[in-house]
Amino acid sequence: MNLLIIGQHGQVARELAAVAWPESIRVTQLGRATFDLARPAQFRTILEGGPWDLIVNAGAYTAVDRAESEPGEAFAINRDGPAALAGWCSENRVPLIHLSTDYVFDGTNHRPYVESDPVRPINVYGQSKAEGESAVRAALVTHVILRTSWVYSAHGRNFVKSMLRLAAERDELRIVRDQTGLPTAAPEIARAIAAMVRRIAAGEPIDWGTYHFTGAGETTWYGFASYLLETSKAFGGRCPRITPISTREFPTPAARPLNSRLECSKWRYSFDQELRPWRESCREIVRTLMHEAETPEAVTPENGTPETGTPETKPRMTS
Ligand SMILES: NC(=O)c1ccc[n+]([C@@H]2O[C@H](COP(=O)([O-])OP(=O)(O)OC[C@H]3O[C@@H](n4cnc5c(N)ncnc54)[C@H](OP(=O)(O)O)[C@@H]3O)[C@@H](O)[C@H]2O)c1
Repeated sequence: MNLLIIGQHGQVARELAAVAWPESIRVTQLGRATFDLARPAQFRTILEGGPWDLIVNAGAYTAVDRAESEPGEAFAINRDGPAALAGWCSENRVPLIHLSTDYVFDGTNHRPYVESDPVRPINVYGQSKAEGESAVRAALVTHVILRTSWVYSAHGRNFVKSMLRLAAERDELRIVRDQTGLPTAAPEIARAIAAMVRRIAAGEPIDWGTYHFTGAGETTWYGFASYLLETSKAFGGRCPRITPISTREFPTPAARPLNSRLECSKWRYSFDQELRPWRESCREIVRTLMHEAETPEAVTPENGTPETGTPETKPRMTS
């Protein structure tokens, strides 16, 4: 089987590159420089030239706050690109695994969201992802839309890395405590995608459609920060005072859903896999990052400033 993965340097994309794929699955991974989702005419040529049996789209516009002032770019990458991609997949009978987000929901539910709940995004990023989902569904039967949330890893830009950097610089961190969600480690998402790919490659039946996949165990951004900084302390990190604040005290360009919890039973039953507790994954990633911090040559340019706002009050909270 020839598997094409779109996205190369993103959190999920990098973990997909680290999967121990069986020899029978030949993987080609293309980053934005070669496969730009905002340029369908160009990427169609790449699709036409390949022997693809299955495509995973791990590329997306993920700058939640910036999307409010760059809607054109967000919609081009998150809606129009996936629409064209799914259209090509339909014409050529190639299945597509496409990633999406909890931010397609408005967060007003009092229970975790199930796959069939109606979407109602409250920011531009969520709207662009929701419309991307609709476009994929409309164009292609053989699709999986995998919604996940609060993604973090040892690479790229994310909440865990922002927190560790800020903890080294500040004596107090003020963190939102009234948004609830499910942190998800990018290696776990890669594991979930690999399970689907293996099943498709083996010709086993799969129920096409939408799935939710996250880490196990809910928390708030405040709970997430408290746990990861406590953990980093065990590896020699600083643990400043953490003050819980409300969303109201933390204005951001993009509104965030208060309830980001995704119900993942459908995934668990369909793929017979348990979700990994987010604390376990978080501990591993914090340990890796703390070790890298002690080894200057291991630090990469990606360990930079998060895109959003001033450091103390606006760590990157992406979904
Ligand atoms: N981050 C989160 O908290 C979060 C939460 C819920 C859902 N998700 C979803 O999960 C998926 C993966 O997210 P992530 O955290 O891995 O994102 P990320 O770290 O921000 O990486 C984004 C990826 O998108 C690629 N990309 C950006 N613009 C592109 C373009 N014009 N054409 C092609 N590729 C482009 C980047 O390409 P290069 O590799 O070439 O740089 C990179 O691989 C996305 O669908 C996202 O919406 C993320």
